Order: sequence, then structure tokens, then C-alpha cells
Amino acid sequence: MKFFLDTASIKEIKEGIELSMVDGVTTNPTLLSKETGDPIEILKSISKIVKGPVSAEVISTDVEDMVKEGKKLADISENINIKIPVTFNGLKATRILHEKNIKVNMTLIFSPSQALLAAKAGASFVSPFVGRIDDISGYGMDLVEQIMTIYKNYNFQTEIIVASIRNPVHVVEAALTGAHIATMPFNIMHLLVKHPLTDIGIERFLNDWNKIYRGNTDIS
Ligand code: G3P
Repeated sequence: MKFFLDTASIKEIKEGIELSMVDGVTTNPTLLSKETGDPIEILKSISKIVKGPVSAEVISTDVEDMVKEGKKLADISENINIKIPVTFNGLKATRILHEKNIKVNMTLIFSPSQALLAAKAGASFVSPFVGRIDDISGYGMDLVEQIMTIYKNYNFQTEIIVASIRNPVHVVEAALTGAHIATMPFNIMHLLVKHPLTDIGIERFLNDWNKIYRGNTDIS
């Protein structure tokens, strides 16, 4: 499973890369609005430091402008893919960009039918938002499982980016479904490694070691 960081923060991306956990990055207008500076310059910097795919989202809602914006964003770097919301216009723009060999990540996916249409339109990625479904008392991971089944049934190559991840359990559940990618905020990447019993275990081992061997062996 690939891990993407769901952020536009250069600081977080650099730290994630140091941890060797960043296979790609997803941004959106909300995430970019949290950073200071020109969004295009921020996307340029992100695409330089990240080896894998970087999602940049269009702001336009009509087909022609979405395509124009998509081309402009794709020109930033070859690892940029274009995030487009799953609407009728979005599907049309996705088809056009796909035919121009520009990769699209169809976003704001909340139903299996939307994911099916996105794949048929030629999207390279789809982003089901599991957290936002859970927020309204649904079960977001059911959607991921349904999309996985549909894509397997018809051998679609579209990759599933499990998005809107709120906790480490979402990542584990996404992995259990076999989804290709989980995109997560930086704090979730940290939480994935933390366990209180690991910390307690380390402390106990060190205390026992120091009681007997402190300073008496080559291992300090
Ligand atoms: O990449 C977009 C998605 O992950 C949004 O997450 O937390 O705003 O629902 P959230």
C-alpha cells in the first residue's frame, strides 16, 4: 500500500520524506489556503521534493475552464495530477485531460456509482472520502470495499486513494480492503507508529539492562 500525505505544508512533507513514508502528496484548495504564499509556487516546490504523484485541484466548475486549469497545473511538473470533483462537467473534463495523457484524480467520491463513472471517464485515481461519510454516521470503508469489487470485476486500472482519513484505524481498514493508496494528514502518519505498550516496553528493557550492565559492557 502506498502512503500519500494529505497536506500542502512543505515542512510536513519534508519530515514525512525523512521518515521514508511519503509515496505521494494530495492537496486541495482548503489545504493550500492554510499555507502562506502563491499556491502555484507551493505546488512547484512540492512537486520538486516529492518523487511520486502530487494532486493539484481545479477551482473552475465548467468543462472548458477545468481543462484549461488542468493543463496549466499539469505544466508545473510531470508528477502533478489534476484533482477534479465528480460532477457531469468534471467527468467530461476528465475524459478530455485523459485523452491528452494528463492524469486525473476524481475527488469528492461518496458513492460507488461515482467511482464507476470516474473509472469509465479515464481517471487514474479516485478519492473516496471515508471520514466525511463516517462524520454523518455512515461507514466510509464500505464504499472503499464496493469500489474495489467493481474495479476488480471490470479490471479497471484506476487506483483508489482512500481520503479524508481521520485516525490510524482508517489506514488499517483501508489496507485490509486492498486499496492502493491511503492519503493522510501528517499527525496520522505519526500515530501509526505510536503504541503506549511499545514505549513502556522500551523503558522496562532499559531499566533492567541498566540495573545489571550499566557501564560494564561494550554496549553502552
Ligand atoms: O484530500 C482531501 C480529503 O482528504 C479531505 O479530508 O479531512 O477535509 O475530510 P477532510
